[in-house]
Amino acid sequence: MTECRICGGEVEEFLDLGRQPLSDAFPRPGDVEGEFFYRLAVGRCLACTMVQLMEEVPRERMFHEDYPYYSSGSSVMREHFTQTALSFIDTELTGENPFFVEIGCNDGVLLRTIAESGIRHLGFEPSVGVANVARERGVTVRTDFFEESTAIAVREANGPADAIFSANTICHIPYLDSLLRGVDALLTPGGVFVFEDPYLGDIVKKTSFDQIYDEHFYLFTVRSVQAMAARFGFELVNVERKPVHGGEVRYTIARAGARRPTPAVARMLAEEDAQGLAEPEVLNGFASAVARIREDLVRLLSSLREDGKTVAGYGATAKSATVTNFCGIGPDLVDYVCDTTPAKQHRLSPGVHIPVSPTETFAASYPDYALLFAWNHAEEIMAKEERFRESGGQWILYVPEVRVV
Ligand code: SAM
Ligand code: TMP
Ligand code: ZN
Repeated sequence: MTECRICGGEVEEFLDLGRQPLSDAFPRPGDVEGEFFYRLAVGRCLACTMVQLMEEVPRERMFHEDYPYYSSGSSVMREHFTQTALSFIDTELTGENPFFVEIGCNDGVLLRTIAESGIRHLGFEPSVGVANVARERGVTVRTDFFEESTAIAVREANGPADAIFSANTICHIPYLDSLLRGVDALLTPGGVFVFEDPYLGDIVKKTSFDQIYDEHFYLFTVRSVQAMAARFGFELVNVERKPVHGGEVRYTIARAGARRPTPAVARMLAEEDAQGLAEPEVLNGFASAVARIREDLVRLLSSLREDGKTVAGYGATAKSATVTNFCGIGPDLVDYVCDTTPAKQHRLSPGVHIPVSPTETFAASYPDYALLFAWNHAEEIMAKEERFRESGGQWILYVPEVRVV
């Protein structure tokens, strides 16, 4: 049993994914000594329902100069964040000289639109490599972790923020007490804190256990976020489902009593009750479904190997670290993984050490099968890799179940 990072309650483990490497650390060939491992397991707080990891990886091990995830690598995500920025400009940033803050702005995929509109803004981004790409796009970046002290420093230097936004980052931050005190210090009295992250409801429904890795410390639900907001003087006032990254929820939080909650909040709470998202039976059922996927996937890859077929991975995602290490899938079953990110290419995948190659390698000589680790980008990838299918290639998917298409 560990203590809940939000409320101090008891956290009961429901899934153990074993010994895992850092999901975004790609060693150079011949330089695999000293790889960091930890135990990846997940549990639910018996008091506030927050689903969280049982063990925390220190943030500096994950987010640093060489952090290799570049948000702008997907055209769908570029469009998603352009639209998000434009909608903030039309709604929350219409006052005089507004100020917009983003937590985890990465390579500026969203803030570039805000910057181009001439709106005062600041991105918090501790990973220097990706932060510098944002700067080249005209974005103002503070290379720091967002927490209470850095939020106060920005408030003192720039004044209050009308809106604080964050995508795929709040769930990475175990110290949400400090973060929410920071939001409290930085936000205008009527301002909003909006964030979106992978949704436990979709993860359970799709058995997408690969959403669980070091960086994803929390798997949020509407219920757990509502309880967390209330603890820190805030209120959950809106929720919206987003189809990106396999299913996310965008949460809007305001100071308690400042805005009237929309009917969507009560509606999603009822849906979560119906799905039993906080029920141990449902979470244990999820754990059993995960075990089945491991069996099916290893059986399929082993039989393809016996038949002399070639198999490549597609997308050296952080998610794939969980799948390959949990299932024991190494270069014996998957020849290489292709990925468009230069910072991942010519490296080895975390833990199991499958070589990572540019996507040109894939196109130059198609394998018989491609295991789609970036399944959340399936539409975008399958559209641009039509020739693979035309030449007789087949995709292997493992979410929500193992199948060949
Ligand atoms: N917002 C982008 C997106 O949705 O594609 C980037 C998401 S990326 C998975 C998470 C980012 O959050 C990384 O660039 C990381 O360096 C940054 N990050 C991690 N902890 C942070 C913190 N405490 N404050 C600000 N940024 C943080
Ligand atoms: P993500 O699922 O965490 O967004 O990671 C996607 C990974 O897949 C990232 O390393 C970039 C890579 N990728 C490609 O190689 N080709 C593509 O078309 C897309 C969209 C992503
Ligand atoms: Zn709790």
